[in-house]
Amino acid sequence: MNTFKILFSFILFLSINVVGAHAAELDHWVLQQKAIAESRMRINISPHGTRRGAVVASPSKQDPNYYYHWVRDAALTMDVFMRQLESQNHSLSERTLRGLLWDYFTFSEYGYLLPSYDGVGEPRYNVDGQPNQDPWGRPQNDGPALRASLLIRFSRYLSAKGEETLVRERIWPLIRHDLNYVGQNTHRSSVDLWEEVRGHHFYTRMVSRAALLCGGDFARRMGDHAQATWYKAQADFLNQQLEQHFHRDLNQIVETVGFESGHDYKHSGLDVATLLAVLHTQNEPYMQLSSKILMDTVMSLKAEFDLRYNINNQKKTTDLGSAIGRYPEDRYYDGNPWFLSTLAYAEYYYLLGNLTEGDRYMRRVRLHVGDDGSMAEQIGKWNGYMLSARDLTWSYAAFLTAAEAREKLIRMKKIKQVL
Ligand code: NOJ
Ligand code: NOJ
Repeated sequence: MNTFKILFSFILFLSINVVGAHAAELDHWVLQQKAIAESRMRINISPHGTRRGAVVASPSKQDPNYYYHWVRDAALTMDVFMRQLESQNHSLSERTLRGLLWDYFTFSEYGYLLPSYDGVGEPRYNVDGQPNQDPWGRPQNDGPALRASLLIRFSRYLSAKGEETLVRERIWPLIRHDLNYVGQNTHRSSVDLWEEVRGHHFYTRMVSRAALLCGGDFARRMGDHAQATWYKAQADFLNQQLEQHFHRDLNQIVETVGFESGHDYKHSGLDVATLLAVLHTQNEPYMQLSSKILMDTVMSLKAEFDLRYNINNQKKTTDLGSAIGRYPEDRYYDGNPWFLSTLAYAEYYYLLGNLTEGDRYMRRVRLHVGDDGSMAEQIGKWNGYMLSARDLTWSYAAFLTAAEAREKLIRMKKIKQVL
């Protein structure tokens, strides 16, 4: 071995260990925070006095009142438990997980039969299971798509356990109802996931496409060949529509096109919803996570938040990532970073295999969680203290999926080191 080779292996040895040490410093906190997130998330499911299966968005009943079952938040919460059931690697028992998903299903099934303003596109339900009647941004068509995708996964799990009859007789009718609605509405505008703008949204289109694709396969399994073909055709239509969001000259994916009404000040078109869309459709990928246009969009969005949030310009250490909000022009609570957005950045980098960058966002989250590990909806842009709805269920769900991506990445890196 010549000197160069010796030097090279020494440097390699050093860098591997630095990467290892770097990750280890966060390991303990992530582990501890996982347990907190899971238990706080469960506190918000079927709390006392609610209909079984209700997933409240937050225990906060005023300023703001989030004590409702939002279709989107509920599906994203259940995704965390579904992942556990699918992976064999669970902290909760199979019986508990199954119970949580079954309750979620029966709550959804109950609401279906009741009259509501927007039928299947109804964005939220009261905790007794009645569709909410307040004036609200309706319809929100990402909800039924997320619900259908989740229930298909649950059905696959049940079928594998030999419960085919239950799937065919109880769950499939609900899934079909959701998918028919999603399929019939591919060409119609709806209100975005932030409940503010009516138009055509990348997020809604992406989750609709994913639901229709896995729905096509599932319908075929259920023997519904005509529906299967039609779902696939609707997904193809969305493939074309999604092209409208790619502004190749700007290297940017624009979240909303065909604005109709609502907040008319979102001029940049940048929105973390675009990244969420890609993260939430990993089962039916439309584009590569590593695609350049997505990376450019993510970077431009971050640059906007660096300009706007005071906390991103304090404590400038290289190992601390930026706090990320929803979109640059956000005015809700005067526009702040959100836990779920910052965690989306962490998850994105982990999935790309970049532990160092992902950990920078995790450290940002660690800096702002409460002393007891609680996570509200937002992080004050001026002082870093938590704001808006406390114990937001979706914040915890976002933490848990990011933590899962981190664990997978570390496991992979360890295997590579051994090889
Ligand atoms: C306005 C917020 O911007 C929106 O995201 C939220 O869903 C509604 N108010 C209801 O709280
Ligand atoms: C406001 C957010 O904008 C929306 O996406 C969410 O569904 C509700 N809060 C409930 O958490």
